[in-house]
Amino acid sequence: MRRIITAGIAAVGAVAMLAMTTACSNEREGSAGTGSTSTKGFAQDSLVGVALPSKTSENWVLAGDLFTDGLKTAGFKVDVQYAGASTTVADQQAQISAMLTKGAKVIVVGATDASQLATQVAQAKQAGAAVIAYDRLITNTRDVDYYIAFDNFKVGQLQGQALIDGMKAKKPQGPWTTELFSGSPDDNNSKVFFEGAMSVLKPLIDKGDIVVGSGQKDIKQTAIQGWKAENAQQRMDSLLTSTYNSGKELDGVLSPNDTLARAILTSVKGAGKPLPVVTGQDSEAESVRSIMAGAQYSTINKDTRKLVAETIAMVKSLQKGDQPQINDTTSYDNGSKVVPAHLLPPVIVTKENAAEAYANDPKLSPLTK
Ligand code: BGC
Repeated sequence: MRRIITAGIAAVGAVAMLAMTTACSNEREGSAGTGSTSTKGFAQDSLVGVALPSKTSENWVLAGDLFTDGLKTAGFKVDVQYAGASTTVADQQAQISAMLTKGAKVIVVGATDASQLATQVAQAKQAGAAVIAYDRLITNTRDVDYYIAFDNFKVGQLQGQALIDGMKAKKPQGPWTTELFSGSPDDNNSKVFFEGAMSVLKPLIDKGDIVVGSGQKDIKQTAIQGWKAENAQQRMDSLLTSTYNSGKELDGVLSPNDTLARAILTSVKGAGKPLPVVTGQDSEAESVRSIMAGAQYSTINKDTRKLVAETIAMVKSLQKGDQPQINDTTSYDNGSKVVPAHLLPPVIVTKENAAEAYANDPKLSPLTK
């Protein structure tokens, strides 16, 4: 686990790197295992399978639509599937197996549980299909060829910094009382986001400038199973009762994404308390509205259109038998190997820069006017 986390730290500098030269290709091929389709190519109208997790945030819904359209336009046959709401792991395992049975040449996977797909990706390797981990890493297997995502560690750092900035803007002098939330423990991203945020927050916590009111600082205590809003709301409700009942002020809450941020705000509102500074991620429309209205403090723009476009570019390279473009060969150790990655830079968004950040997004831009 530690290796994966340190890996995230290295990711910070890695985004700036340009595409690796072909000198790295041999190394990548070696680490990707033998018989990878990446060197042979495949027919232009082949099937590409896209297995996404449950629809726990808007970005997954958008990604599914964009993959369907973009891959079809590129001439591929497409099978996009989502895990259901409850039997998520079994759903996704069955969906990937079915895609391979239908002859998919590439499987793009947004893992519902990072550690539960070893059998399916081994099956892909045997069938000569390439495996791209999309947004979420697949862990403990050598059979994942590439990882494509926004720089998750950087996302966490931006969230941690936004929390500090937001609290300082409201109350220039500390100490600031906060609570920490993290994502679902089965999603590898959750701990990378948290580690990124803690790399910024911990020095202030150690100095006593930031106080975690409940004392719950361990990721096991802060995790929200399944990234579910109701679980976050429940945890916030009980924190308010246990720690903030006697009038203690809550200055800020680290929230790993927008869905949980809104649940946290709902809980605080329900308790009739002043709203703390709350971070987020994903640029969900409702959260952008909330930011513009001065409720949620920040979100992260991870433009799904870009991530899907880069993934489709990767698929096209594999189809031609070329090496896909990657820019990181050190950061994402999945426990079995370092997965060659293509990382995109995330952008922090607050009320101040929202108009600029979403200027090219026809859905979000009108919300900032
Ligand atoms: C994604 C986030 C998303 C979360 C819940 C994470 O893996 O990176 O963007 O908010 O899953 O869906």
